[in-house]
Amino acid sequence: MDNTPSNAGTKQLGALPAASPARLAEVTVRQWGEGLARTWHDGDWLAAPARVGARIAALIGASPDEVIAADTVSINIYKLLAAVLDAQPQRRVILTEVGNFPTDLYIAQGLVAHRPGVSLRIIPAETIAAEADAASIVLLSHVDYRSGACHDLPGLTAALHAKGAAVVWDLSHSVGAVEIDLAAAGAQLAVGCGYKYLNGGPGAPAFLYVARGLQPALRSPLAGWMGHAAPFDFPENYAPAAGIARFLCGTPPILGLTALEVGVAISAEAGMATIARKSQALCETFIALVEQRCAGAGHNHTPDGGGAGQPYQPAPPRRRAAAKGPADARRDLRFPLPQCAALRLRAALQQLCRCVARGGGAANRADGTRLVD
Ligand SMILES: Cc1ncc(COP(=O)(O)O)c(C=O)c1O
Repeated sequence: MDNTPSNAGTKQLGALPAASPARLAEVTVRQWGEGLARTWHDGDWLAAPARVGARIAALIGASPDEVIAADTVSINIYKLLAAVLDAQPQRRVILTEVGNFPTDLYIAQGLVAHRPGVSLRIIPAETIAAEADAASIVLLSHVDYRSGACHDLPGLTAALHAKGAAVVWDLSHSVGAVEIDLAAAGAQLAVGCGYKYLNGGPGAPAFLYVARGLQPALRSPLAGWMGHAAPFDFPENYAPAAGIARFLCGTPPILGLTALEVGVAISAEAGMATIARKSQALCETFIALVEQRCAGAGHNHTPDGGGAGQPYQPAPPRRRAAAKGPADARRDLRFPLPQCAALRLRAALQQLCRCVARGGGAANRADGTRLVD
């Protein structure tokens, strides 16, 4: 796998929105510097996780009271998996896919290690719907972090719910990049990342989604004071907040939330349909360039590749020869197509054009080093 800084730059950290530095300076100098602790209430700092969550909700087809910005994706996966296992003790198996993002696998591994009777199965994505049953909680990444391959979220959600399974979607590589309608899909649980296509900045808070009807039944395994029904009464015993706020744990990271709010506002202003259209146009341009200039270099185009992620997978012939089946093919991908937010499209396209123009360059980075070893 390509773990270089170049890869991190394109996929793991969204661009800096023009408005972010000034907004961060304002919150730092005026709210923090002048307002000090008063701003927790006067400046609405305490309301930030729910406010930013509500803005993210509009991008993923959720209601404002179903999403909260908090913690990291890893922690949010833990919270949701554990909450479901606690509330629905018939669930004894966490099912996830081969090639899922490592932290998703590690968190599930760590969770089952402390839960006698609960096991983890990591199986090919193609077999998940067949294997799932009423004892399962399924953890899936909507868009594959390496290939850009996109699961059919509505179709899989329906199929898995029909088998009685619960499903947690990791939207880290799809939120802000592709259109998502969780309500229409009947999805009940999801997490996602703030620092990729939401352009929230390095280490931006993540978010989690719990469908309103399910919220009263679930309790966070991390019963921190910010998830309490009355945190500023300082009671000794824990009582969860009424709604999505019960999934908060500790003090919200205000500077991170400030930057995330700016990034989310850009996606909201552009509109996910527009961003998705631009992403598609970028993809088509890239494919046309590769096919024009790198004919015979050994690439592998899967036009719909499982969904809207439009995976395009140039790979050297020896890599392709090594791929044995659909699961292997999905694992073997090394050149993910960036699904950029609108503000990144021009730079990304220029970079792709430079890359392709290097001749045989489907496997090169912009600086000329190999993308594929
Ligand atoms: C699909 C996916 N899930 C989870 C994570 C980890 O997120 P965090 O660092 O916020 O825990 C990442 C990070 O890149 C990711 O790509």
